[in-house]
Amino acid sequence: MNKFFSVADIDDLDAVVREALELKADPYQCRELGKNQTLGLVFLNPSLRTRLSTQKAAMSLGMDVMVINMDKEGWALETKDGVIMNGTTVEHIREAAAVMGEYCDILGLRSFPSLKDKEADYTEELFNKIVKFCGVPVVSLESATRHPLQSLTDLITITEHKKTAKPRVVLAWAPHVKALPQAVPNSFAEWMCKAQAQGLVDFTIAHPEGYELSEEFTPGATITNRLDEALAGADFVYVKNWSSYHQYGEVYPVSDSWMMTNEKLELTNEAKVMHCLPVRRDLELSSEILDGPHSLVVKEAGNRVWAAQVVLKRMLEHLKK
Ligand code: CP
Repeated sequence: MNKFFSVADIDDLDAVVREALELKADPYQCRELGKNQTLGLVFLNPSLRTRLSTQKAAMSLGMDVMVINMDKEGWALETKDGVIMNGTTVEHIREAAAVMGEYCDILGLRSFPSLKDKEADYTEELFNKIVKFCGVPVVSLESATRHPLQSLTDLITITEHKKTAKPRVVLAWAPHVKALPQAVPNSFAEWMCKAQAQGLVDFTIAHPEGYELSEEFTPGATITNRLDEALAGADFVYVKNWSSYHQYGEVYPVSDSWMMTNEKLELTNEAKVMHCLPVRRDLELSSEILDGPHSLVVKEAGNRVWAAQVVLKRMLEHLKK
């Protein structure tokens, strides 16, 4: 593996989950693999889980890790070509990415979408430029359209906690006060659609009208505007807000009845509730769920380590070939 950007970079989902769970059972089994190898983690946006879990995963593989908060600690980056840099940007992405590639054997990159320029966001302009100019393998720590380490984590968590061979998984839209990216739901949907195609889950998406995701991410999913219909018999409910894809970045007023509560969970098959975090309590998800036995959110966040570790392990193995 020399890049980790989407579910397309993994062939056999069951195999990668099994490998991740083997690392969870014995985290230091590969600590010689990463010796004298440097991971650079580049953040253009805030992070708690991605930053710490990826560092922990790299350290358990014996890697050295460097982190830069590019938005606060780096020079202001120019990402467009053909621009005369006589404004506020100080360094072009061409030099910045190439220089980071000189210092690191693997780079991780976290960036969010603008939610203003759909074409730039959905062609992953920034991410692709860094991949092109850095010259080393790149792992996405969340890009404009996807969050693959989160989605691999989610599949690991579902596999660990499922009570039936093919659980019913529901992605449920939830209210929020801000316009949020589609990256997490896009990514969760494309991973669950592939898992469904490989016979691992049965997948449904529930959202209010106007919040349709791009069809590119939802092949084979059952999609409904009826939350109660989606929740009937669900084994896992993945709660997440996102802004409109078609009216790009817009937020429409929606009834707060989309917030997940214990009362709604009564429709399910005693479903476990998931969320990528950070979560807005009593807006997206009720406190009674977060503090109760249905919630998997903390265990899910803990599993971020094993998703990162299996991906870095595969990249290091590729580098050693
Ligand atoms: N879920 C997630 O990516 O969390 P952070 O933004 O804190 O890394």
